[in-house]
Amino acid sequence: MNEKKSYYITTPIYYPSGKLHIGHAYCTVATDAMARYKRLCGCDVMFLTGTDEHGQKIEDKAREAGVTPQEFVDNIVAAPGGVLDLWKLMNISYDRFIRTTDDYHVESIQKIFRKMYDNGDIYKGSYKGKYCKPCESFWTESQLVDGKCPDCGREVMDAEEEAYFFRASKYADRVRELLLNTDFLEPRSRVHEMVNNFIDCEGGLQDLCVSRTSFTWGVPVDFDPGHVVYVWLDALFNYMTALGYQNKKYDDVENFWPADAHFVGKEIVRFHAIYWPAFLMSMGLPLPKKVYGHGWLNFNGDKMSKSKGNVVDPHLLSQRYGVDALRFFLLRSFPFGSDGNFTNELLIQTINNDLANDLGNLVSRTTAMAEKYFGGTLPGDCRGDEALDGELIALVKGLRDRYEGQMEKFQFQNALEEVFKVVQRANKYIDENAPWALAKDMDANGTRLAAVLYNLLEAVRVCTVLLIPFMPESCEKIFAQIGADEGARTWDSAAQWGVLPTTVSVSKGENLFPRIDMNKELSELDAIMEEAKKAALPALEVEPFLEEQVDFDTFCKSDFRAVKVKACENVKKSAKLLRFTLDDGTGTDRQILSGIAMYYKPEELVGKTLVAIVNLPPRKMMGLDSCGMLISAVHTEQGEERLHLLMVDDAIPAGAKLC
Ligand code: ME8
Repeated sequence: MNEKKSYYITTPIYYPSGKLHIGHAYCTVATDAMARYKRLCGCDVMFLTGTDEHGQKIEDKAREAGVTPQEFVDNIVAAPGGVLDLWKLMNISYDRFIRTTDDYHVESIQKIFRKMYDNGDIYKGSYKGKYCKPCESFWTESQLVDGKCPDCGREVMDAEEEAYFFRASKYADRVRELLLNTDFLEPRSRVHEMVNNFIDCEGGLQDLCVSRTSFTWGVPVDFDPGHVVYVWLDALFNYMTALGYQNKKYDDVENFWPADAHFVGKEIVRFHAIYWPAFLMSMGLPLPKKVYGHGWLNFNGDKMSKSKGNVVDPHLLSQRYGVDALRFFLLRSFPFGSDGNFTNELLIQTINNDLANDLGNLVSRTTAMAEKYFGGTLPGDCRGDEALDGELIALVKGLRDRYEGQMEKFQFQNALEEVFKVVQRANKYIDENAPWALAKDMDANGTRLAAVLYNLLEAVRVCTVLLIPFMPESCEKIFAQIGADEGARTWDSAAQWGVLPTTVSVSKGENLFPRIDMNKELSELDAIMEEAKKAALPALEVEPFLEEQVDFDTFCKSDFRAVKVKACENVKKSAKLLRFTLDDGTGTDRQILSGIAMYYKPEELVGKTLVAIVNLPPRKMMGLDSCGMLISAVHTEQGEERLHLLMVDDAIPAGAKLC
């Protein structure tokens, strides 16, 4: 019989649509710290992570890449440098990794879908929405951007598709009750947002469309070919199928369900706090104990995302500073429930202050002094002095409880703050007791010196036990340096004082956290990231071609003429506008205003022959008439918009018609 308390914790399963960045690593590192902490406390832990591999986005990306969707996801998940490699690099101690394309998961999802259909919670209806034909995508009114497809910017049309729906509305009251009257969802600040925006909103909680027919890369609805299961229903149930729910692959539902904690980013709280419990209610299953919605890691104030080209690469950072320093930084610098702003400066500052100056220094000073004054082995008589040592000892003895209080609330930053208060106090204790002065008269002060070093080693030991979840490899090294055996590395031992033998042997090892030269490092990092940003953006992008056709007669109505620039100047109080005086061959000057001041200096255009459309109705801009429009070519290069005025041979006379 397993007497250990079980603990089941999960990360979201990631979309393998591109390389993962430090924002993705943030949640996984936090989950890993929690899993390691629970193992340290003696729990039987199941830590699940994985990948969410179905859906239109993957199907589209695979098509673009000219491979099958399965090949596409395999390449991101399992190939060198992929998701599995990243978790290995970041020392993520997951117990199970699920891929939603795994056979057992697909089989379970089909059974789950059928059960919900059989119990009446899934019914067939029709999905009405806005449809983008080229993208084959349905959108809701609110997803549109300026009334157009948010993906490609083209026109959308009203359309209807046969689909299955989940009766979410039936569970609205129970979900509201769950959110408002239990601590199911944390931080509490997210509760009202969920209830107000999705349950108590106009029209109430809507039934959810849970099948699609417009693409095929998904779990097929086995009793209705042509339909695939909506990716969120497929994805959310991973938390149970990975335990063996509705399959024979595993047999862990009894042991681990309900989950103790789902860690999820704030933008997917809605799925986890509303639909997930409603699905489970429909299946008559117990609900998870906690959904924790963490904040985003922003970069210069903006959410890190591949499409913005502002992602920070965890491979690069761990190569430069070590995996533990990176893991530590992520959880030490930002409160888990709120957004955090990643900067290179903050990263280096945290490593220098906490790891190099405080922790690294404490360990190296203590072990160096033990070697210097006692040849590495303390003499055995290490009695303390209540007046001189009492405060440090009391602080260390109470540390585990204070830390536990914070870890149980997922307040990693505060838990680390508690540890570092002790580290800082111990450094101050060195200065107060000045071991180098005591060492001047070993006969008189040798015992006191040994006691001082022993107290420091004990303080280091307890802090190190509590840092295991955050920096497992570095902690191993510190334990080796301070001579802590297995028994001195346990959770129980972290609440005790005097665990190291008084004759402990230490050895000053490598410098665990070398100090970084801030300025030098910042300029190197900036250069690398700038390069990476450029490389991540498409080299050249042109506007998508319009689908809609223009008939020939309509086209011929546009009057394009060669025009010569007689004068050009900036329009006062406008950063964008240039005012052109043009010879259009009629003998009367034509004035056109054009928003291209960021691309050209007025003087470089004088004398040039341009192309203008001259039969547009005049428009007022900054109080001036603009009679026509200059034609230019636009494209995007490495993320920056470029514009070139169309210039033609100067031999073409002003007023010549272009056709
Ligand atoms: O949402 N800071 O997958 P995903 C913090 N497949 N967290 C971030 C982040 C950032 N800058 N960028 C992304 C999915 N994340 C679904 C999950 S679960 C049944 C299905 C987090 O790969 C994000 O908030 O888009 C989310 O929790 C996780 O990375 C996976 O995102």
